[in-house]
Amino acid sequence: MSRIAYVNGRYCVHADAAVHVEDRGYQFADGIYEVCEVSEGRLVDERRHMERLKRSLSELRIPVPMSMPALSIVLHETVRRNRVIEGLVYVQITRGVAPRDHGFPPAGTPPALVVTAKSLDRARIDRTGHDGITVVTLPDNRWERVDIKSVALLPNVLAKQTARERGAREAWFVDRDGRITEGASSNAWIVTAAGELVTRPADHAILRGITRTVLLEVIAAHGLTLQERPFTVAEAYAAREAFVTSASQSVQPVVRVDDHVIGGGKPGPIALTLRSKFHGHTEFS
Ligand code: PDD
Repeated sequence: MSRIAYVNGRYCVHADAAVHVEDRGYQFADGIYEVCEVSEGRLVDERRHMERLKRSLSELRIPVPMSMPALSIVLHETVRRNRVIEGLVYVQITRGVAPRDHGFPPAGTPPALVVTAKSLDRARIDRTGHDGITVVTLPDNRWERVDIKSVALLPNVLAKQTARERGAREAWFVDRDGRITEGASSNAWIVTAAGELVTRPADHAILRGITRTVLLEVIAAHGLTLQERPFTVAEAYAAREAFVTSASQSVQPVVRVDDHVIGGGKPGPIALTLRSKFHGHTEFS
């Protein structure tokens, strides 16, 4: 069975799926995206992801390409046509195709919409969840609107590659004051020696992760103590536990930050509990 992609109104064979060379996403990274988990063939937290998608579009003044119910049908149909049971669905919307010019194209230029879906090896992700991952810290050299889920991800790409070259799975960005903002593709969390969860407030310095938002509910429901405040690299080194959150990995324990072993090198009980409770608080559609 070949993979299928949705590209500007058509379902086509993934291997042949293509956009125009003057797509503004291709030329200027002038677009936004969303990644939604698929679990048991259903979308996880579609409503929240679509709300964030609309916000990203409106912040960049890109029109919504179709009605939200129609977009929902395309998402589900792409998942169905690819027979994804456990995996991800990816949506990308750019400002469309127009002769290359930095200013916006003429009003009425249709935005370009691409949707893909892929299966993930859930057992493999669960194994990493069991073992934990290593992260490295790097200077945050991104622009000031990383709250917008834009496809302009060059600093994230370079940070992830540096992490891999250092044998790590994720990079944590550090702001000028020595405080961690977030991961290259995830939000960052620690548990202090006093057992308090700490994560950075969702201002303009981080993406307001949907997994992060749901986890705040899980934390409240389980009576755990949370501080939404920036934390330093030194606090991360001294943390009792650490973890990252994202749609692709839910809660992923961190067992090393740079050269500092966290929690004796094993995923901590709070991270593991939150991981096991996470899907009990998500919406499925
Ligand atoms: N990444 N911060 C950044 C920079 C991210 O790229 C992501 C998600 C998150 C977590 O957001 P959410 O919980 O909504 O997935 C935080 C996606 C999965 C990606 O780029 O593949």
